Amino acid sequence: MSGQREPVGVIGVGWVGLVTAVCFAELGHEVVARDILAEKVEALSGGETTIHEPGLEEMLRRNAERITFTTDMSVLLERARLLFVCVDTPPTYSGDADLSRVRAVVEELPADSEHVLIMKSTVPAGTGDSIRRDRPGLPYVSCPEFLKEGTAVTDFMHPDRVVIGADAGDDRAAEAVAGLYEPLGGEILRTDVSSAEMIKLASNAFLATKISFINEIANVCEEVGADVGQVAAGMGLDQRIGASFLRAGIGYGGSCFPKDVKALKMLAGNTGYHFQLLNAVIEVNELQKRRVVGKLEKHLGSLLGKRIALLGLAFKPDTDDMREASSLVLAARLQGEGAEVVGYDPVAAGRAAELLDSVEMADSALDALEGADAAVLVTEWREFAELDWSEVAARMARPLVVDGRNFLDPAQLVGAGFEYEGIGTSQDVPAPATTD
Ligand SMILES: NC(=O)c1ccc[n+]([C@@H]2O[C@H](COP(=O)([O-])OP(=O)(O)OC[C@H]3O[C@@H](n4cnc5c(N)ncnc54)[C@H](O)[C@@H]3O)[C@@H](O)[C@H]2O)c1
Repeated sequence: MSGQREPVGVIGVGWVGLVTAVCFAELGHEVVARDILAEKVEALSGGETTIHEPGLEEMLRRNAERITFTTDMSVLLERARLLFVCVDTPPTYSGDADLSRVRAVVEELPADSEHVLIMKSTVPAGTGDSIRRDRPGLPYVSCPEFLKEGTAVTDFMHPDRVVIGADAGDDRAAEAVAGLYEPLGGEILRTDVSSAEMIKLASNAFLATKISFINEIANVCEEVGADVGQVAAGMGLDQRIGASFLRAGIGYGGSCFPKDVKALKMLAGNTGYHFQLLNAVIEVNELQKRRVVGKLEKHLGSLLGKRIALLGLAFKPDTDDMREASSLVLAARLQGEGAEVVGYDPVAAGRAAELLDSVEMADSALDALEGADAAVLVTEWREFAELDWSEVAARMARPLVVDGRNFLDPAQLVGAGFEYEGIGTSQDVPAPATTD
């Protein structure tokens, strides 16, 4: 089966690159994946995934024979014509996207390259144009990635849409990329390169705007005695609005939204346009995490010397990614108030420990909660909903929960003896009726 399919090259084997490599192998392609980190290449060559992503390790092992991991660019260039660039584009101090890794990849391509450069990394609109100016004749296709960590494999295999941006002269390259995605069945949208780049940034900025919008609604709900869960449910039934990304909480994090929203704001600013709305989106998100401190103080008074347990440290469940996780800001704010912070995460504890060196890491949720004056639910891992909250109440110094994701069942917690604080509701939670 693999014999007829065109080999695929992947450059940069992180969250996007590894999922891309493994999924194309699953579709029957021979894949050559190159990273500059030797230890990563070694682990992957041994069938061990370097990230926590549901379903990925099994898929990697199933397709191990079709994937070659290497640090050697020449192996990749020799064996694959279609090259997906999946290197990181982190923010610089100025807030713009750092394109140095993308440039390094372009520089490694030979001058007379017959390869097709397919940009999956998220880059500012105009990046493709500038690469094409520097490297005339190099076929260039923008193919932004829309997967979500935690459901990355499913998202890749069942895309809502695949955007393929190519300019005049690159039609054949664009068709080759479209051909790779056809078996997946999602809608394939052909655009020019700049529009494809802009679709990615605009999509992330819009989703972040939805989150900040519902968080502001939540904050008003707290003032006027409404419940944001009910409000979001009522809004989401309107098909023009849609129900997704209307979940109030302590804000967005991760490797994409914070950087991409900032990068779009800066991209606009660099052209002289002031993107006012995104300023508000960013500021609301920053302040939202900090509101947890006020909620704790409402119950505990000064946090000096209080022991606060953070449940969940990853930026979202089903990933061990700690980039821009809300837990980082929260831990620092709580420690700034003199609190003693203990954290627990089912999979991100290792990565978290490197970033939160003054936070005590617990081996289990119960260990973290033992003797704590309050718990803050930061990441909605399923296991937290399944805790025996009556036992937790007995173990804590004070049974107080701030549910930063509106994830737990307030009635169950109140029934177990907790003081419960969610996001976006000022209503007192009634204790469940008892039968005796
Ligand atoms: N993580 C996501 O959920 C997601 C979703 C959509 C788009 N994106 C975008 O995709 C890109 C990659 O994101 P990620 O989260 O996978 O990043 P990552 O940091 O997890 O992975 C990037 C990889 O590229 C490697 N690398 C850097 N320079 C290299 C080079 N010259 N040659 C080969 N490898 C090199 C790094 O060692 C690393 O393994 C970013 O632009 C990001 O914005 C990410």
